[in-house]
Amino acid sequence: MSSTWLTKAVLQFERVLWLVSIGMLFVLGYFWGVLEFGMSHPVSLMTSLEALSGFEFSGRSVHQLPGGIWAHISEGEVGYIFTRTELLFISIVTFFCQIALAIIMVLSLIALRDKSYRLYAGVALYASGLLMVSPLYSLYESGVLPWWELVRVAGALLCVRWAAKSLPVPQTHSQALIVYASQTGSAKYLAQRLHDTAHALMDIACVSTLTEQTLKRYQRVFFVVSTYGQGEAPDSARRFVNTLQGANSAASQTQFSVLALGDRTYQTFCAFGHYLSELLEQKGYQRAIPTTEIDRMDPQGVAHWWQQVGELLGIHTAPELFEYDDYTVMANECLNPEQTHRLAHRVTLFCANARYEAGDLLAVQPEQKDEHERLYSIASYQDNTIELLVRQHIRADGTIGLASGMLSQLTPGDRVLASVREHTTFHPKANVPWIMIGAGTGLAPFISFLKKRQAEQDSAPCWLFFGEQYVEHDAYFAKDLTAFQDQGILTRLDRAWSRSDGVYVPDLLQQSHKAIRQWVAEQGAHVYVCGSREGFGESVLATLQDILPEPQWQSQLHTDLY
Ligand SMILES: Cc1cc2nc3c(=O)[nH]c(=O)nc-3n(C[C@H](O)[C@H](O)[C@H](O)COP(=O)(O)OP(=O)(O)OC[C@H]3O[C@@H](n4cnc5c(N)ncnc54)[C@H](O)[C@@H]3O)c2cc1C
Ligand SMILES: Cc1cc2nc3c(=O)[nH]c(=O)nc-3n(C[C@H](O)[C@H](O)[C@H](O)COP(=O)(O)O)c2cc1C
Repeated sequence: MSSTWLTKAVLQFERVLWLVSIGMLFVLGYFWGVLEFGMSHPVSLMTSLEALSGFEFSGRSVHQLPGGIWAHISEGEVGYIFTRTELLFISIVTFFCQIALAIIMVLSLIALRDKSYRLYAGVALYASGLLMVSPLYSLYESGVLPWWELVRVAGALLCVRWAAKSLPVPQTHSQALIVYASQTGSAKYLAQRLHDTAHALMDIACVSTLTEQTLKRYQRVFFVVSTYGQGEAPDSARRFVNTLQGANSAASQTQFSVLALGDRTYQTFCAFGHYLSELLEQKGYQRAIPTTEIDRMDPQGVAHWWQQVGELLGIHTAPELFEYDDYTVMANECLNPEQTHRLAHRVTLFCANARYEAGDLLAVQPEQKDEHERLYSIASYQDNTIELLVRQHIRADGTIGLASGMLSQLTPGDRVLASVREHTTFHPKANVPWIMIGAGTGLAPFISFLKKRQAEQDSAPCWLFFGEQYVEHDAYFAKDLTAFQDQGILTRLDRAWSRSDGVYVPDLLQQSHKAIRQWVAEQGAHVYVCGSREGFGESVLATLQDILPEPQWQSQLHTDLY
């Protein structure tokens, strides 16, 4: 039995002790009449034994009286009378105290046998802490000195807290930890797949839950991180990066490696992965494997890194990293056949395993198996069925994009390999108003959002801004939007038709700036922006910055820009 196990057990036990202590405080409150529980004051102070005349009492014992009343008589002829309910209440707390004491004794003995003296000191302190809260017998007599009970309980809690801090940091079973920092879910998916293949040796954590202390508990930490914005960290990594920046540099035994996800079309390719790697090294962590850049989830690059991780851990790793499900095409409708250079398709797919939330993405594997997957926002809300709004991408040389070309040409009965990607930063918040701002295929997740509202009968107001080129060609999902309006789910709908009316989404935002400010600042609305990053996304974010310049509204802004 290792001291690691012991320390963990003691730390778990601390929670029980807190519950016992809180229970004790309730008992005291009850006895002092601070807490009534709808009953009369439980204790009748007897200043003389005359009231109990006819019964024999001896010293400090407890006696049953007729009518289910118990009496405890203390020296000096002062005693209390308790009803059965009150005694039951006391005995339950006492029972837990006894159990807690028994556990403590066992832990102490094991700690001694293991020569874990430091741990033993902690356990002994727990025991003394518990002894201070446990003597309920003396509580019987405490009517005269109630403040003393308070000192006992408060003292015990302080002692327990101090003891917990004095314990050594528990070591984990696993030697290695895999950490993900993801914005649109790819890094998380990848980390989970890697973890699945080596879970006996590894723990897994989101970077948002990571502390420096956790990092130091592991011999090896493997990071799978993406880069966002213009070379920035995903939102979930910001807090950890700030903590790490402020940490002291000291040599650490912990080794690390970073798998940096990115896209070579960005100038700041994998910038966050490289930054994190350098920061960790600066703070004294040992780089075990060079930082590996992954372009658009390149499966070969990932497999190569994973093989190096396997060699380090002494395991054979040949996982099939990317697992896709078979999706069957149910329908494929072109929504704007007149717009031959920017066709938009509503593609309906079915897969019995498909489970997702509003805001999630579907990763589609192009027909060429060695090609990277492409992401699409899900526009539906019903499990098993997935709707996409796909723009047929035309490349600079006039050829059709690989994945969008494939999707737009599908016919019912065809099959596609795909897999849901959780997009937690774009999951809509329930019971608050939403301002949804989209352009082109950026409308897709908002159809899912509105269906969620409909399904959950959530009546908080919703406002949609939507931008496209022509009112007569590009009014996607128009019938659905009208139905949402008729049902009172979509409270406001503002559309900007750039080629029909020369109006863009940022113009509409400017026109409604007072109402937007009021929705966000006074009604707590969350703002969701989806669509292409260049042009649309950048101008919308700049306009929102003008309308809501205060940093506190940032937490209510969510983006899905591509
Ligand atoms: C979070 C997110 C959500 C999205 N949602 C939608 C949506 O709802 N609807 C929609 O239509 N589109 C959506 N997209 C865009 C979509 O993923 C594809 O990028 C788009 O369909 C074009 O892909 P393609 O395979 O048709 O074109 P391709 O020509 O094969 O690729 C398109 C572009 O990707 C780049 N590229 C392709 N392969 C590589 C490579 N190996 N290395 C580097 N760059 C490469 C090139 O710049 C190329 O021009 C979304 C993208 C993201 C990131
Ligand atoms: C809005 C946006 C900004 C991005 N910025 C960068 C960037 O600056 N550098 C880079 O290498 N990759 C960038 N990427 C690509 C992502 O890092 C890449 O798609 C990664 O696989 C996403 O992983 P995730 O889903 O775990 O967040 C960006 C992607 C998007 C959608």
